[in-house]
Amino acid sequence: MIVGIPKEIKNNESRVGMTPAGVFELVKNNHKVYVQSDAGEGSGFFNQDYQQAGAIILDTIGQVYAMSEMIVKVKEPIEEEYDLIQKGQILFTYFHFASSEALTKAMIKQKAICIAYETVEDEEGTLPLLTPMSEVAGRMAIQQGAKYLEKPVKGRGVLLGGVPGVAPGKVLVLGAGVVGIQAAKMAAGLGAHVTILDINMKRLRYVNDVMPPHVVTEFSNEFNIRRLIKTHDLIIGGVLLKGAKAPNLITRDMLKEMRPGTVIVDVAVDQGGCVETTKPTTHEDPIYIIDDVVHYSVANMPGAVPYTSTMALTNVTLPYALKLANLGWEAACAKDASLNKGLNIVEGKVVYQEIIEAFGWEEVVA
Ligand SMILES: NC(=O)c1ccc[n+]([C@@H]2O[C@H](COP(=O)([O-])OP(=O)(O)OC[C@H]3O[C@@H](n4cnc5c(N)ncnc54)[C@H](O)[C@@H]3O)[C@@H](O)[C@H]2O)c1
Repeated sequence: MIVGIPKEIKNNESRVGMTPAGVFELVKNNHKVYVQSDAGEGSGFFNQDYQQAGAIILDTIGQVYAMSEMIVKVKEPIEEEYDLIQKGQILFTYFHFASSEALTKAMIKQKAICIAYETVEDEEGTLPLLTPMSEVAGRMAIQQGAKYLEKPVKGRGVLLGGVPGVAPGKVLVLGAGVVGIQAAKMAAGLGAHVTILDINMKRLRYVNDVMPPHVVTEFSNEFNIRRLIKTHDLIIGGVLLKGAKAPNLITRDMLKEMRPGTVIVDVAVDQGGCVETTKPTTHEDPIYIIDDVVHYSVANMPGAVPYTSTMALTNVTLPYALKLANLGWEAACAKDASLNKGLNIVEGKVVYQEIIEAFGWEEVVA
């Protein structure tokens, strides 16, 4: 198969759909790979790295789309890419169709085969192509939180690890899922005292088993949250209700109960956030302050560490990309139930029920 890796053109996106290591695997399997010139530069991979791995570099994004049977990328195509997409071309990337009717209609019109990373689902019901980005965001949440706890940026002026003779900072983690556990691990590693909350007792038991004694678990309810926010310096929002808006576990009135300079990193911002006052921010302007509480709520946290994120993403996408290239999309999806769940739009037909429901369409728009 001929596989194309275009440069991402969405604002501030420095990740790329495939690393040189991924190209190497595809070429080893007798596939041809076209990479747009400088596609990997933002992630620290250069044209010569791709050439050494066996790719052919093309000058323009138009050439990559025109000459490839499958496009592997990171973000959904944006408007200027729509007309480059060809009938029957496989697009393997994040789409998040339910959040954009315009994108959905455009992909229906182009009659491509849209396989969405975010809906590939394994036998346990987990989403293997979303997990690495939650791992990145969870770990990063502590790095960012530690930074914004510093006084010059209006934080409480607390060093998370403390020093001999001074108690460490306190971190409250809402949700013991992928984000929450990674955040707790990083905070614990810095020496902070960590409290992690969930409503799922299985998750709490797991955390209790694997974490050191300065990570404590409590059940998530309003009473406990109201009590704990008064004494914690950094709060991480990592809750998720599958397919729904995140619940507002911290309401506006609770901000007044927190000490000035408390920092909230609401990672769940992409699902509406678990704090009532959360609104999406960007890496250029990541924080805002309400009632003396610093809010950090960047919606694409992994975008700030593209080297790590690109590698983490392609580690998990490559086996599927290889399957698609080796077998073609029909045989690959027939053989692999997880990949089959990734099929969202096939040659103008929406095949993923949640998309139809999200827009209130009665039937498939073709
Ligand atoms: N901002 C970013 O850049 C970014 C990056 C990656 C992920 N995310 C988001 O982070 C969020 C968490 O993702 P995840 O992969 O950790 O999800 P996950 O499903 O692994 O974990 C979510 C956890 O929340 C728990 N939960 C549900 N209701 C709760 C409640 N009332 N109180 C406490 N816990 C509760 C669940 O039991 C589960 O353990 C998602 O919204 C995800 O989209 C954001």
